[in-house]
Amino acid sequence: MMNRSAARLVAIVMLTAGGCFGVTAAPAPAPASPVSYGVEKDIFHPVTAQQGMVASVDATATRVGVDILKQGGNAVDAAVAVGFALAVTHPQAGNLGGGGFMMLRTADGKTTAIDFREMAPQQASRDMFLDDKGNPDSKKSLTSHLATGTPGTVAGFALALEKYGSLPLNKVMQPAITLARDGIWVNDALAFDLKTYGVETLVNHPNSKAIFWSVGDNPLQKGDKLVQENLAKSLEMIAENGPDAFYKGAIADQIADEMAKNGGLITKADLAAYKAVERTPIGGTYRGYEVFSMPPPSSGGIHIVQILNILENFDLAKYGFGSADAMHLVAEAEKYAYADRSEYLGDPDFVKVPWQALTSKAYAKSLAQKIDLQKAVASSTIKPGDLAPYESNQTTHFSVVDKQGNAVAVTYTLNTTFGSGIVAGDTGILLNNEMDDFSAKPGVPNVYGLVGGDANAVGPNKRPLSSMSPTIVVKNGKTWLVTGSPGGSRIITTVLQMVLNTVDFGMNVAEATNAPRFHHQWLPDELRVEKGFSPDTLRILKEKGQNVAVKDVMGSTQSIMIGEDGTRYGASDPRTVDDLTAGY
Ligand code: GLY
Repeated sequence: MMNRSAARLVAIVMLTAGGCFGVTAAPAPAPASPVSYGVEKDIFHPVTAQQGMVASVDATATRVGVDILKQGGNAVDAAVAVGFALAVTHPQAGNLGGGGFMMLRTADGKTTAIDFREMAPQQASRDMFLDDKGNPDSKKSLTSHLATGTPGTVAGFALALEKYGSLPLNKVMQPAITLARDGIWVNDALAFDLKTYGVETLVNHPNSKAIFWSVGDNPLQKGDKLVQENLAKSLEMIAENGPDAFYKGAIADQIADEMAKNGGLITKADLAAYKAVERTPIGGTYRGYEVFSMPPPSSGGIHIVQILNILENFDLAKYGFGSADAMHLVAEAEKYAYADRSEYLGDPDFVKVPWQALTSKAYAKSLAQKIDLQKAVASSTIKPGDLAPYESNQTTHFSVVDKQGNAVAVTYTLNTTFGSGIVAGDTGILLNNEMDDFSAKPGVPNVYGLVGGDANAVGPNKRPLSSMSPTIVVKNGKTWLVTGSPGGSRIITTVLQMVLNTVDFGMNVAEATNAPRFHHQWLPDELRVEKGFSPDTLRILKEKGQNVAVKDVMGSTQSIMIGEDGTRYGASDPRTVDDLTAGY
Protein backbone atom coordinates (compact mmCIF):
# COMPACT_ATOMS: atom_id res chain seq x y z
CA MET A 1 0.00 0.00 0.00
CA MET A 2 1.35 3.43 -0.92
CA ASN A 3 1.79 6.06 1.75
CA ARG A 4 0.06 9.42 1.42
CA SER A 5 2.87 11.29 -0.26
CA ALA A 6 3.40 8.49 -2.76
CA ALA A 7 -0.32 8.53 -3.42
CA ARG A 8 -0.22 12.28 -4.04
CA LEU A 9 2.64 11.80 -6.47
CA VAL A 10 0.57 9.24 -8.39
CA ALA A 11 -2.33 11.70 -8.42
CA ILE A 12 -0.13 14.45 -9.82
CA VAL A 13 1.24 12.12 -12.49
CA MET A 14 -2.31 11.17 -13.44
CA LEU A 15 -3.38 14.81 -13.57
CA THR A 16 -0.70 15.58 -16.09
CA ALA A 17 -1.38 12.51 -18.18
CA GLY A 18 -3.65 14.20 -20.69
CA GLY A 19 -7.39 14.57 -21.13
CA CYS A 20 -10.14 13.29 -23.31
CA PHE A 21 -12.77 15.23 -25.17
CA GLY A 22 -14.49 17.41 -22.67
CA VAL A 23 -12.30 16.48 -19.74
CA THR A 24 -9.76 18.93 -18.51
CA ALA A 25 -6.17 17.93 -17.99
CA ALA A 26 -2.56 18.83 -18.49
CA PRO A 27 -2.26 22.35 -17.13
CA ALA A 28 0.58 24.48 -18.43
CA PRO A 29 3.23 25.57 -15.91
CA ALA A 30 1.62 28.12 -13.64
CA PRO A 31 2.46 31.80 -14.14
CA ALA A 32 2.82 33.89 -10.99
CA SER A 33 -0.65 34.88 -9.92
CA PRO A 34 -2.44 36.37 -6.96
CA VAL A 35 -4.26 33.20 -6.03
CA SER A 36 -3.31 29.65 -5.31
CA TYR A 37 -4.79 27.03 -7.56
CA GLY A 38 -5.25 23.35 -7.62
CA VAL A 39 -6.70 21.27 -4.89
CA GLU A 40 -4.77 18.33 -3.55
CA LYS A 41 -6.70 15.14 -3.88
CA ASP A 42 -6.03 12.02 -1.90
CA ILE A 43 -6.76 9.09 -4.15
CA PHE A 44 -7.23 6.62 -1.32
CA HIS A 45 -8.90 8.60 1.46
CA PRO A 46 -12.23 10.31 0.94
CA VAL A 47 -12.96 13.76 2.31
CA THR A 48 -15.13 13.34 5.42
CA ALA A 49 -17.77 15.50 7.05
CA GLN A 50 -20.57 14.96 9.54
CA GLN A 51 -23.31 17.23 8.18
CA GLY A 52 -23.33 18.61 4.66
CA MET A 53 -21.08 17.98 1.68
CA VAL A 54 -20.67 19.20 -1.89
CA ALA A 55 -18.56 17.66 -4.66
CA SER A 56 -18.18 19.62 -7.88
CA VAL A 57 -15.74 20.20 -10.70
CA ASP A 58 -14.91 23.71 -9.47
CA ALA A 59 -13.57 24.59 -6.03
CA THR A 60 -15.26 28.01 -5.93
CA ALA A 61 -18.65 26.53 -6.81
CA THR A 62 -18.21 23.82 -4.17
CA ARG A 63 -17.52 26.48 -1.56
CA VAL A 64 -20.67 28.35 -2.65
CA GLY A 65 -22.68 25.20 -2.02
CA VAL A 66 -21.13 24.51 1.38
CA ASP A 67 -21.83 28.12 2.45
CA ILE A 68 -25.50 27.74 1.51
CA LEU A 69 -25.68 24.51 3.53
CA LYS A 70 -24.02 26.18 6.51
CA GLN A 71 -26.55 29.02 6.29
CA GLY A 72 -29.31 26.45 6.76
CA GLY A 73 -30.17 25.81 3.12
CA ASN A 74 -31.05 22.28 2.14
CA ALA A 75 -29.40 20.14 -0.54
CA VAL A 76 -31.63 21.55 -3.31
CA ASP A 77 -30.86 25.15 -2.30
CA ALA A 78 -27.16 24.32 -2.33
CA ALA A 79 -27.38 22.42 -5.64
CA VAL A 80 -29.14 25.33 -7.35
CA ALA A 81 -26.55 27.76 -5.95
CA VAL A 82 -23.74 25.51 -7.22
CA GLY A 83 -25.42 25.22 -10.62
CA PHE A 84 -25.68 28.99 -11.05
CA ALA A 85 -22.13 29.48 -9.73
CA LEU A 86 -20.74 26.95 -12.23
CA ALA A 87 -22.33 28.99 -15.04
CA VAL A 88 -19.85 31.70 -14.03
CA THR A 89 -16.81 29.76 -12.84
CA HIS A 90 -16.91 26.77 -15.22
CA PRO A 91 -18.27 28.13 -18.52
CA GLN A 92 -16.97 25.03 -20.30
CA ALA A 93 -20.13 23.23 -19.15
CA GLY A 94 -21.78 25.14 -16.33
CA ASN A 95 -24.55 27.11 -17.93
CA LEU A 96 -27.75 29.06 -18.21
CA GLY A 97 -27.93 28.35 -21.94
CA GLY A 98 -27.92 24.55 -21.76
CA GLY A 99 -29.81 21.85 -19.94
CA GLY A 100 -29.55 18.76 -17.82
CA PHE A 101 -31.03 16.54 -15.17
CA MET A 102 -31.42 16.49 -11.39
CA MET A 103 -31.93 13.37 -9.28
CA LEU A 104 -33.20 14.00 -5.80
CA ARG A 105 -33.76 11.69 -2.84
CA THR A 106 -35.28 13.34 0.19
CA ALA A 107 -34.34 12.39 3.72
CA ASP A 108 -37.70 10.64 4.06
CA GLY A 109 -37.05 8.43 1.04
CA LYS A 110 -38.91 10.11 -1.83
CA THR A 111 -36.96 9.81 -5.06
CA THR A 112 -37.68 12.04 -8.02
CA ALA A 113 -36.06 13.36 -11.19
CA ILE A 114 -36.21 16.79 -12.81
CA ASP A 115 -35.71 16.91 -16.56
CA PHE A 116 -34.50 20.27 -17.85
CA ARG A 117 -33.08 18.94 -21.11
CA GLU A 118 -33.11 21.32 -24.07
CA MET A 119 -35.95 21.06 -26.60
CA ALA A 120 -35.71 21.29 -30.37
CA PRO A 121 -37.34 24.50 -31.61
CA GLN A 122 -40.75 24.38 -33.28
CA GLN A 123 -39.21 24.85 -36.72
CA ALA A 124 -36.74 21.94 -36.32
CA SER A 125 -37.06 19.19 -38.88
CA ARG A 126 -35.82 15.66 -39.35
CA ASP A 127 -33.21 16.37 -42.04
CA MET A 128 -32.04 19.78 -40.89
CA PHE A 129 -28.48 18.60 -40.28
CA LEU A 130 -27.97 16.89 -43.63
CA ASP A 131 -25.94 18.44 -46.44
CA ASP A 132 -26.88 18.57 -50.14
CA LYS A 133 -25.78 14.96 -50.56
CA GLY A 134 -27.88 13.76 -47.66
CA ASN A 135 -24.95 13.30 -45.26
CA PRO A 136 -24.83 14.71 -41.73
CA ASP A 137 -23.00 18.03 -41.52
CA SER A 138 -21.54 18.25 -38.04
CA LYS A 139 -20.72 21.95 -38.46
CA LYS A 140 -24.44 22.61 -38.61
CA SER A 141 -25.21 20.50 -35.54
CA LEU A 142 -22.24 21.61 -33.45
CA THR A 143 -21.16 25.16 -34.26
CA SER A 144 -23.94 26.92 -36.17
CA HIS A 145 -26.91 28.70 -34.63
CA LEU A 146 -28.96 25.65 -35.65
CA ALA A 147 -27.02 23.63 -33.07
CA THR A 148 -28.80 25.20 -30.13
CA GLY A 149 -31.82 23.67 -28.48
CA THR A 150 -34.16 25.78 -26.33
CA PRO A 151 -32.29 25.94 -23.01
CA GLY A 152 -33.74 24.31 -19.90
CA THR A 153 -31.36 25.06 -17.04
CA VAL A 154 -33.07 28.16 -15.63
CA ALA A 155 -36.50 26.49 -15.70
CA GLY A 156 -35.11 23.32 -14.14
CA PHE A 157 -33.38 25.07 -11.25
CA ALA A 158 -36.43 27.26 -10.62
CA LEU A 159 -38.72 24.22 -10.56
CA ALA A 160 -36.42 22.29 -8.22
CA LEU A 161 -36.14 25.26 -5.87
CA GLU A 162 -39.86 25.96 -5.85
CA LYS A 163 -40.84 22.35 -5.12
CA TYR A 164 -37.99 21.12 -2.96
CA GLY A 165 -35.88 24.09 -1.87
CA SER A 166 -36.26 26.27 1.21
CA LEU A 167 -34.55 29.52 0.19
CA PRO A 168 -35.65 32.19 -2.33
CA LEU A 169 -34.14 32.28 -5.82
CA ASN A 170 -32.43 35.64 -5.30
CA LYS A 171 -30.62 34.30 -2.23
CA VAL A 172 -29.20 31.19 -3.89
CA MET A 173 -28.25 33.19 -7.00
CA GLN A 174 -26.41 35.94 -5.13
CA PRO A 175 -23.02 34.16 -5.04
CA ALA A 176 -23.14 33.62 -8.82
CA ILE A 177 -24.02 37.28 -9.40
CA THR A 178 -21.11 38.40 -7.21
CA LEU A 179 -18.67 36.05 -8.93
CA ALA A 180 -19.73 37.26 -12.37
CA ARG A 181 -19.57 40.94 -11.44
CA ASP A 182 -16.44 40.96 -9.29
CA GLY A 183 -14.68 38.43 -11.48
CA ILE A 184 -12.88 35.16 -10.94
CA TRP A 185 -9.25 34.25 -11.45
CA VAL A 186 -8.83 31.95 -14.43
CA ASN A 187 -7.70 28.58 -13.09
CA ASP A 188 -5.76 25.75 -14.73
CA ALA A 189 -8.89 24.02 -15.98
CA LEU A 190 -10.39 27.06 -17.68
CA ALA A 191 -7.06 28.22 -19.12
CA PHE A 192 -6.44 24.78 -20.61
CA ASP A 193 -9.92 24.48 -22.11
CA LEU A 194 -9.89 28.01 -23.56
CA LYS A 195 -6.57 27.25 -25.23
CA THR A 196 -7.66 23.81 -26.42
CA TYR A 197 -11.34 24.14 -27.31
CA GLY A 198 -12.12 27.84 -27.19
CA VAL A 199 -9.83 28.49 -30.12
CA GLU A 200 -12.18 26.42 -32.29
CA THR A 201 -15.46 27.89 -31.10
CA LEU A 202 -15.48 31.01 -28.95
CA VAL A 203 -12.95 32.77 -31.12
CA ASN A 204 -15.38 32.82 -34.05
CA HIS A 205 -17.97 34.95 -32.28
CA PRO A 206 -17.20 38.58 -31.28
CA ASN A 207 -19.54 38.47 -28.26
CA SER A 208 -17.80 35.35 -26.95
CA LYS A 209 -14.32 36.56 -27.76
CA ALA A 210 -15.00 39.81 -25.92
CA ILE A 211 -15.55 37.81 -22.74
CA PHE A 212 -12.92 35.09 -22.91
CA TRP A 213 -10.08 36.70 -24.88
CA SER A 214 -7.57 39.21 -23.58
CA VAL A 215 -6.68 42.39 -25.42
CA GLY A 216 -3.65 40.78 -27.07
CA ASP A 217 -5.80 38.35 -29.07
CA ASN A 218 -5.04 35.38 -26.84
CA PRO A 219 -7.44 33.39 -24.74
CA LEU A 220 -7.35 34.37 -21.08
CA GLN A 221 -4.62 32.56 -19.23
CA LYS A 222 -4.24 31.19 -15.77
CA GLY A 223 -4.17 34.05 -13.29
CA ASP A 224 -6.05 36.48 -15.57
CA LYS A 225 -9.24 37.94 -14.18
CA LEU A 226 -12.49 36.99 -15.86
CA VAL A 227 -15.21 39.58 -15.25
CA GLN A 228 -18.63 38.80 -16.80
CA GLU A 229 -20.68 41.96 -16.39
CA ASN A 230 -23.33 41.03 -18.92
CA LEU A 231 -23.78 37.62 -17.36
CA ALA A 232 -24.08 39.30 -13.96
CA LYS A 233 -26.89 41.49 -15.35
CA SER A 234 -28.69 38.45 -16.79
CA LEU A 235 -28.34 36.58 -13.50
CA GLU A 236 -29.68 39.60 -11.64
CA MET A 237 -32.72 39.81 -13.91
CA ILE A 238 -33.49 36.15 -13.25
CA ALA A 239 -32.89 36.55 -9.50
CA GLU A 240 -35.30 39.51 -9.39
CA ASN A 241 -37.99 38.40 -11.83
CA GLY A 242 -37.73 34.62 -11.81
CA PRO A 243 -37.40 32.35 -14.86
CA ASP A 244 -39.76 34.57 -16.89
CA ALA A 245 -36.86 37.00 -17.27
CA PHE A 246 -35.10 34.29 -19.25
CA TYR A 247 -38.05 32.75 -21.09
CA LYS A 248 -40.30 35.76 -21.71
CA GLY A 249 -38.38 38.94 -20.87
CA ALA A 250 -35.31 40.81 -22.03
CA ILE A 251 -33.09 37.72 -22.17
CA ALA A 252 -35.61 35.90 -24.37
CA ASP A 253 -35.67 38.93 -26.68
CA GLN A 254 -31.92 38.78 -27.09
CA ILE A 255 -31.74 35.03 -27.66
CA ALA A 256 -34.51 35.21 -30.28
CA ASP A 257 -32.82 38.18 -31.93
CA GLU A 258 -29.44 36.37 -32.00
CA MET A 259 -31.15 33.42 -33.71
CA ALA A 260 -33.14 35.49 -36.20
CA LYS A 261 -30.04 37.38 -37.33
CA ASN A 262 -27.89 34.27 -37.76
CA GLY A 263 -30.08 31.58 -39.24
CA GLY A 264 -30.98 29.94 -35.92
CA LEU A 265 -34.47 28.62 -35.19
CA ILE A 266 -35.27 29.46 -31.58
CA THR A 267 -38.07 32.02 -31.33
CA LYS A 268 -39.67 33.83 -28.42
CA ALA A 269 -42.53 31.36 -28.70
CA ASP A 270 -40.11 28.44 -28.24
CA LEU A 271 -38.66 30.07 -25.15
CA ALA A 272 -42.05 30.92 -23.69
CA ALA A 273 -43.23 27.34 -24.24
CA TYR A 274 -40.24 25.65 -22.59
CA LYS A 275 -41.10 23.54 -19.54
CA ALA A 276 -38.94 21.58 -17.11
CA VAL A 277 -40.64 18.30 -16.24
CA GLU A 278 -40.62 16.21 -13.09
CA ARG A 279 -40.31 12.52 -13.99
CA THR A 280 -40.25 9.19 -12.21
CA PRO A 281 -36.68 7.89 -11.96
CA ILE A 282 -35.63 4.57 -13.41
CA GLY A 283 -35.28 2.21 -10.46
CA GLY A 284 -33.53 -1.12 -10.29
CA THR A 285 -31.87 -3.43 -7.82
CA TYR A 286 -28.34 -4.77 -7.81
CA ARG A 287 -27.19 -7.37 -5.30
CA GLY A 288 -29.63 -6.01 -2.72
CA TYR A 289 -28.92 -2.31 -3.35
CA GLU A 290 -31.52 -0.04 -4.96
CA VAL A 291 -30.31 2.06 -7.88
CA PHE A 292 -32.16 5.21 -9.02
CA SER A 293 -31.09 7.07 -12.11
CA MET A 294 -32.32 9.33 -14.86
CA PRO A 295 -35.22 8.20 -17.08
CA PRO A 296 -35.58 9.17 -20.77
CA PRO A 297 -34.80 11.48 -22.44
CA SER A 298 -31.64 10.21 -20.79
CA SER A 299 -30.57 6.72 -21.73
CA GLY A 300 -28.44 6.59 -18.58
CA GLY A 301 -30.84 5.13 -16.04
CA ILE A 302 -32.19 2.42 -18.31
CA HIS A 303 -28.80 1.20 -19.45
CA ILE A 304 -27.09 1.38 -16.06
CA VAL A 305 -29.86 -0.79 -14.65
CA GLN A 306 -29.83 -3.07 -17.72
CA ILE A 307 -26.05 -3.64 -17.49
CA LEU A 308 -26.23 -4.19 -13.72
CA ASN A 309 -29.03 -6.71 -14.27
CA ILE A 310 -26.89 -8.61 -16.78
CA LEU A 311 -23.86 -8.54 -14.48
CA GLU A 312 -25.88 -9.79 -11.51
CA ASN A 313 -25.77 -13.15 -13.28
CA PHE A 314 -21.99 -13.31 -12.75
CA ASP A 315 -19.84 -13.26 -9.61
CA LEU A 316 -17.71 -10.22 -10.43
CA ALA A 317 -16.22 -10.07 -6.93
CA LYS A 318 -14.83 -13.56 -7.42
CA TYR A 319 -13.01 -12.51 -10.60
CA GLY A 320 -11.75 -9.31 -8.94
CA PHE A 321 -11.27 -5.69 -10.01
CA GLY A 322 -9.10 -5.32 -13.10
CA SER A 323 -9.21 -9.03 -13.95
CA ALA A 324 -9.61 -9.83 -17.62
CA ASP A 325 -12.68 -11.95 -16.87
CA ALA A 326 -14.50 -9.19 -14.98
CA MET A 327 -13.62 -6.57 -17.60
CA HIS A 328 -14.68 -8.89 -20.43
CA LEU A 329 -18.06 -9.58 -18.81
CA VAL A 330 -18.71 -5.88 -18.28
CA ALA A 331 -17.68 -5.03 -21.85
CA GLU A 332 -19.94 -7.72 -23.32
CA ALA A 333 -22.89 -6.51 -21.23
CA GLU A 334 -22.22 -2.94 -22.36
CA LYS A 335 -22.30 -3.94 -26.04
CA TYR A 336 -25.82 -5.35 -25.73
CA ALA A 337 -27.03 -2.29 -23.83
CA TYR A 338 -25.62 0.26 -26.31
CA ALA A 339 -27.06 -1.73 -29.23
CA ASP A 340 -30.49 -1.42 -27.61
CA ARG A 341 -29.87 2.27 -26.96
CA SER A 342 -29.43 2.86 -30.68
CA GLU A 343 -32.85 1.42 -31.44
CA TYR A 344 -35.23 2.09 -28.61
CA LEU A 345 -34.23 5.28 -26.81
CA GLY A 346 -35.65 8.73 -27.49
CA ASP A 347 -37.82 11.43 -25.98
CA PRO A 348 -40.58 9.67 -24.01
CA ASP A 349 -42.99 12.49 -24.85
CA PHE A 350 -42.75 11.44 -28.53
CA VAL A 351 -41.79 7.76 -28.66
CA LYS A 352 -42.74 4.83 -26.51
CA VAL A 353 -39.53 3.78 -24.79
CA PRO A 354 -39.83 0.14 -23.65
CA TRP A 355 -38.09 0.81 -20.34
CA GLN A 356 -39.76 -1.99 -18.44
CA ALA A 357 -38.63 -4.59 -20.94
CA LEU A 358 -35.13 -3.14 -21.15
CA THR A 359 -34.73 -3.11 -17.37
CA SER A 360 -36.36 -6.47 -16.68
CA LYS A 361 -34.31 -9.16 -14.95
CA ALA A 362 -35.66 -11.74 -17.42
CA TYR A 363 -34.38 -9.83 -20.46
CA ALA A 364 -31.03 -9.32 -18.73
CA LYS A 365 -30.79 -13.04 -18.05
CA SER A 366 -31.40 -13.81 -21.72
CA LEU A 367 -28.55 -11.43 -22.64
CA ALA A 368 -26.29 -12.86 -19.92
CA GLN A 369 -26.80 -16.31 -21.42
CA LYS A 370 -25.39 -15.07 -24.72
CA ILE A 371 -22.13 -13.99 -23.09
CA ASP A 372 -19.19 -16.35 -23.49
CA LEU A 373 -16.59 -15.81 -20.77
CA GLN A 374 -13.84 -16.89 -23.13
CA LYS A 375 -14.77 -15.12 -26.34
CA ALA A 376 -15.91 -11.62 -27.29
CA VAL A 377 -18.84 -11.34 -29.65
CA ALA A 378 -18.12 -9.07 -32.61
CA SER A 379 -20.28 -5.96 -32.39
CA SER A 380 -21.28 -6.41 -36.02
CA THR A 381 -23.17 -9.56 -35.04
CA ILE A 382 -25.05 -7.86 -32.21
CA LYS A 383 -28.35 -6.28 -33.12
CA PRO A 384 -30.76 -4.48 -30.81
CA GLY A 385 -32.63 -7.18 -28.89
CA ASP A 386 -36.17 -8.43 -29.47
CA LEU A 387 -37.95 -7.21 -26.40
CA ALA A 388 -40.80 -8.99 -24.73
CA PRO A 389 -43.96 -7.00 -25.40
CA TYR A 390 -44.99 -4.99 -22.38
CA GLU A 391 -48.39 -3.53 -21.75
CA SER A 392 -47.84 -1.14 -20.69
CA ASN A 393 -17.22 15.95 -24.66
CA GLN A 394 -18.19 18.53 -21.86
CA THR A 395 -20.70 18.12 -19.29
CA THR A 396 -20.40 18.56 -15.58
CA HIS A 397 -21.74 16.78 -12.55
CA PHE A 398 -22.11 17.77 -8.92
CA SER A 399 -23.42 15.99 -5.84
CA VAL A 400 -24.81 17.50 -2.65
CA VAL A 401 -25.89 15.98 0.67
CA ASP A 402 -27.28 18.10 3.50
CA LYS A 403 -27.34 17.52 7.24
CA GLN A 404 -30.89 16.13 7.12
CA GLY A 405 -29.82 13.50 4.58
CA ASN A 406 -31.44 15.00 1.47
CA ALA A 407 -29.31 14.10 -1.53
CA VAL A 408 -29.09 15.77 -4.94
CA ALA A 409 -27.17 14.68 -8.03
CA VAL A 410 -27.09 17.10 -10.98
CA THR A 411 -25.53 16.59 -14.40
CA TYR A 412 -25.93 19.47 -16.82
CA THR A 413 -24.19 20.66 -19.93
CA LEU A 414 -23.79 22.79 -23.02
CA ASN A 415 -22.86 19.50 -24.79
CA THR A 416 -19.29 19.94 -26.07
CA THR A 417 -16.85 22.26 -24.29
CA PHE A 418 -18.29 25.83 -24.32
CA GLY A 419 -21.25 24.44 -26.34
CA SER A 420 -21.79 26.17 -29.67
CA GLY A 421 -19.33 28.88 -28.60
CA ILE A 422 -22.05 31.45 -29.27
CA VAL A 423 -23.00 34.04 -26.67
CA ALA A 424 -26.48 35.42 -27.24
CA GLY A 425 -26.32 39.19 -27.82
CA ASP A 426 -25.40 41.09 -24.67
CA THR A 427 -26.65 38.44 -22.29
CA GLY A 428 -23.23 36.95 -21.51
CA ILE A 429 -24.96 33.57 -21.85
CA LEU A 430 -23.22 30.82 -23.80
CA LEU A 431 -25.59 28.69 -25.89
CA ASN A 432 -25.58 24.91 -26.10
CA ASN A 433 -25.02 22.71 -29.16
CA GLU A 434 -27.23 19.93 -27.85
CA MET A 435 -29.00 19.39 -31.19
CA ASP A 436 -26.01 17.17 -32.10
CA ASP A 437 -27.33 14.62 -29.59
CA PHE A 438 -30.18 13.86 -31.99
CA SER A 439 -29.56 11.23 -34.59
CA ALA A 440 -29.02 13.39 -37.70
CA LYS A 441 -29.28 10.28 -39.88
CA PRO A 442 -29.99 6.72 -38.70
CA GLY A 443 -26.82 4.70 -38.29
CA VAL A 444 -24.41 7.64 -38.66
CA PRO A 445 -22.49 8.42 -35.45
CA ASN A 446 -22.63 11.76 -33.63
CA VAL A 447 -19.74 13.56 -31.93
CA TYR A 448 -19.55 10.79 -29.31
CA GLY A 449 -19.56 8.01 -31.92
CA LEU A 450 -23.10 7.08 -30.87
CA VAL A 451 -25.48 5.86 -33.52
CA GLY A 452 -29.21 6.24 -33.23
CA GLY A 453 -32.40 5.60 -35.11
CA ASP A 454 -35.90 6.90 -35.64
CA ALA A 455 -36.65 7.11 -31.94
CA ASN A 456 -34.03 9.85 -31.64
CA ALA A 457 -34.63 11.61 -34.97
CA VAL A 458 -34.85 15.43 -34.91
CA GLY A 459 -38.39 16.72 -34.47
CA PRO A 460 -40.10 19.91 -33.30
CA ASN A 461 -40.26 20.26 -29.50
CA LYS A 462 -38.40 16.97 -29.00
CA ARG A 463 -35.68 16.53 -26.40
CA PRO A 464 -32.49 14.93 -27.76
CA LEU A 465 -31.42 11.64 -26.22
CA SER A 466 -28.80 12.01 -23.51
CA SER A 467 -26.37 9.79 -21.63
CA MET A 468 -26.27 11.97 -18.53
CA SER A 469 -26.83 9.77 -15.51
CA PRO A 470 -27.10 11.46 -12.13
CA THR A 471 -27.50 8.40 -9.90
CA ILE A 472 -28.37 7.61 -6.31
CA VAL A 473 -27.76 4.15 -4.77
CA VAL A 474 -29.70 3.14 -1.68
CA LYS A 475 -28.52 0.57 0.89
CA ASN A 476 -30.87 -0.85 3.50
CA GLY A 477 -33.39 1.86 2.67
CA LYS A 478 -30.91 4.72 3.20
CA THR A 479 -29.13 6.90 0.65
CA TRP A 480 -25.65 5.40 0.24
CA LEU A 481 -23.98 6.74 -2.90
CA VAL A 482 -24.66 9.96 -4.84
CA THR A 483 -22.72 10.09 -8.08
CA GLY A 484 -22.50 11.12 -11.71
CA SER A 485 -20.03 12.20 -14.37
CA PRO A 486 -19.48 14.07 -17.62
CA GLY A 487 -18.11 12.22 -20.65
CA GLY A 488 -20.77 11.93 -23.37
CA SER A 489 -21.38 8.29 -24.25
CA ARG A 490 -18.90 7.28 -21.53
CA ILE A 491 -21.05 8.72 -18.74
CA ILE A 492 -23.11 5.55 -18.48
CA THR A 493 -20.12 3.23 -18.10
CA THR A 494 -18.27 5.62 -15.79
CA VAL A 495 -21.23 5.77 -13.40
CA LEU A 496 -21.67 2.01 -13.77
CA GLN A 497 -18.08 1.51 -12.64
CA MET A 498 -18.67 3.66 -9.55
CA VAL A 499 -21.41 1.18 -8.62
CA LEU A 500 -19.34 -1.91 -9.45
CA ASN A 501 -16.23 -0.60 -7.68
CA THR A 502 -18.13 0.14 -4.48
CA VAL A 503 -20.64 -2.72 -4.44
CA ASP A 504 -18.65 -5.60 -5.98
CA PHE A 505 -15.08 -4.66 -5.27
CA GLY A 506 -15.53 -3.06 -1.84
CA MET A 507 -13.69 0.16 -2.64
CA ASN A 508 -14.27 3.35 -0.71
CA VAL A 509 -15.53 6.31 -2.71
CA ALA A 510 -12.03 7.74 -3.31
CA GLU A 511 -10.60 4.41 -4.45
CA ALA A 512 -13.63 3.80 -6.65
CA THR A 513 -13.17 7.23 -8.24
CA ASN A 514 -9.47 6.80 -8.83
CA ALA A 515 -9.55 3.24 -10.22
CA PRO A 516 -8.77 3.05 -13.95
CA ARG A 517 -11.85 2.94 -16.18
CA PHE A 518 -12.85 1.12 -19.34
CA HIS A 519 -15.71 1.47 -21.79
CA HIS A 520 -17.43 -0.35 -24.64
CA GLN A 521 -20.33 1.24 -26.54
CA TRP A 522 -21.01 -1.53 -29.12
CA LEU A 523 -20.02 0.69 -32.04
CA PRO A 524 -17.20 1.23 -32.64
CA ASP A 525 -16.23 -2.33 -31.65
CA GLU A 526 -13.50 -1.15 -29.31
CA LEU A 527 -12.79 -1.80 -25.66
CA ARG A 528 -11.44 1.58 -24.64
CA VAL A 529 -9.26 1.45 -21.52
CA GLU A 530 -7.43 4.05 -19.49
CA LYS A 531 -3.79 3.61 -18.61
CA GLY A 532 -3.35 1.69 -15.39
CA PHE A 533 -4.53 -1.83 -16.18
CA SER A 534 -1.99 -4.63 -16.09
CA PRO A 535 -0.44 -5.57 -19.45
CA ASP A 536 -1.30 -9.19 -18.61
CA THR A 537 -4.96 -8.26 -18.29
CA LEU A 538 -4.92 -6.43 -21.61
CA ARG A 539 -3.20 -9.38 -23.30
CA ILE A 540 -5.84 -11.82 -22.01
CA LEU A 541 -8.62 -9.46 -23.10
CA LYS A 542 -7.13 -9.39 -26.60
CA GLU A 543 -6.93 -13.19 -26.59
CA LYS A 544 -10.64 -13.24 -25.80
CA GLY A 545 -11.22 -11.15 -28.92
CA GLN A 546 -11.64 -7.71 -27.36
CA ASN A 547 -10.31 -4.87 -29.53
CA VAL A 548 -8.42 -3.13 -26.75
CA ALA A 549 -7.42 0.50 -27.26
CA VAL A 550 -5.59 2.43 -24.55
CA LYS A 551 -6.83 6.02 -24.72
CA ASP A 552 -7.22 9.19 -22.67
CA VAL A 553 -8.90 9.35 -19.31
CA MET A 554 -12.68 9.09 -19.09
CA GLY A 555 -15.16 10.99 -16.95
CA SER A 556 -14.90 13.18 -13.89
CA THR A 557 -17.03 11.75 -11.13
CA GLN A 558 -18.03 13.92 -8.17
CA SER A 559 -19.43 11.57 -5.54
CA ILE A 560 -20.62 11.41 -1.97
CA MET A 561 -21.19 8.26 0.08
CA ILE A 562 -23.03 8.19 3.39
CA GLY A 563 -21.70 5.68 5.93
CA GLU A 564 -23.75 3.61 8.35
CA ASP A 565 -23.08 6.14 11.12
CA GLY A 566 -24.05 9.08 8.92
CA THR A 567 -20.52 10.21 8.10
CA ARG A 568 -20.32 11.78 4.65
CA TYR A 569 -17.42 10.51 2.52
CA GLY A 570 -16.72 12.40 -0.69
CA ALA A 571 -14.34 12.32 -3.62
CA SER A 572 -13.64 14.51 -6.59
CA ASP A 573 -11.93 12.98 -9.58
CA PRO A 574 -8.12 12.99 -9.85
CA ARG A 575 -8.56 13.13 -13.64
CA THR A 576 -9.64 16.76 -13.41
CA VAL A 577 -7.99 19.78 -11.86
CA ASP A 578 -9.54 22.55 -9.76
CA ASP A 579 -12.46 20.41 -8.58
CA LEU A 580 -13.20 20.06 -4.88
CA THR A 581 -15.19 18.02 -2.42
CA ALA A 582 -15.79 19.84 0.85
CA GLY A 583 -18.15 19.62 3.78
CA TYR A 584 -18.65 20.56 7.39
N1 GLY B 1 -24.58 16.00 -24.42
C1 GLY B 1 -24.21 14.72 -23.98
C2 GLY B 1 -25.33 13.97 -23.37
O1 GLY B 1 -26.32 14.56 -22.99
O2 GLY B 1 -25.26 12.77 -23.29
